[in-house]
Amino acid sequence: MEQLVQVIYICLSDGSDVNQTPLLWVIEGQSANMSCSHTKDATYFQMYWYQQLPGQNMKLIVFTTTTPPHKYEQGFDKEKFPAKKKDAQTGSLTVNNSKPEDSGLYFCAVSKHSDAAD
Ligand SMILES: *[C@@H]1O[C@H](CO)[C@@H](O)[C@H](O)[C@H]1NC(C)=O
Ligand SMILES: *[C@@H]1O[C@H](CO)[C@@H](O)[C@H](O)[C@H]1NC(C)=O
Repeated sequence: MEQLVQVIYICLSDGSDVNQTPLLWVIEGQSANMSCSHTKDATYFQMYWYQQLPGQNMKLIVFTTTTPPHKYEQGFDKEKFPAKKKDAQTGSLTVNNSKPEDSGLYFCAVSKHSDAAD
């Protein structure tokens, strides 16, 4: 029997101008597409996507910018989590071929490019 996969995603930034569509239900095997956008200026072209599974710590999946390739962390790959970043203000992350164990919280964070060391 097909199971449902629940994906909750939250877009974070230092303002309240980041849009969100917090909850998605998809049937196992389908993909869950999360998109995040902001209205900050174009220097905020970096977007981080994080995953937090129940009972686990938050993990960085991928760091994206408008100039791919996106940087995937160990344990995550671009076939499972295809990311898109067409312009500075928007970005998306897909959970491809979702499984019940992909159910959890996903976070998107936007950051500004800085030449200074963080
Ligand atoms: C996910 O949604 C965003 C925004 O609507 C879109 O740009 C992107 O192409 C979608 N990705 C997939 C894999 O459908
Ligand atoms: C989704 O995953 C399948 C394998 O499960 C792979 O063949 C396909 O290329 C993936 N899609 C993307 C957009 O990476």
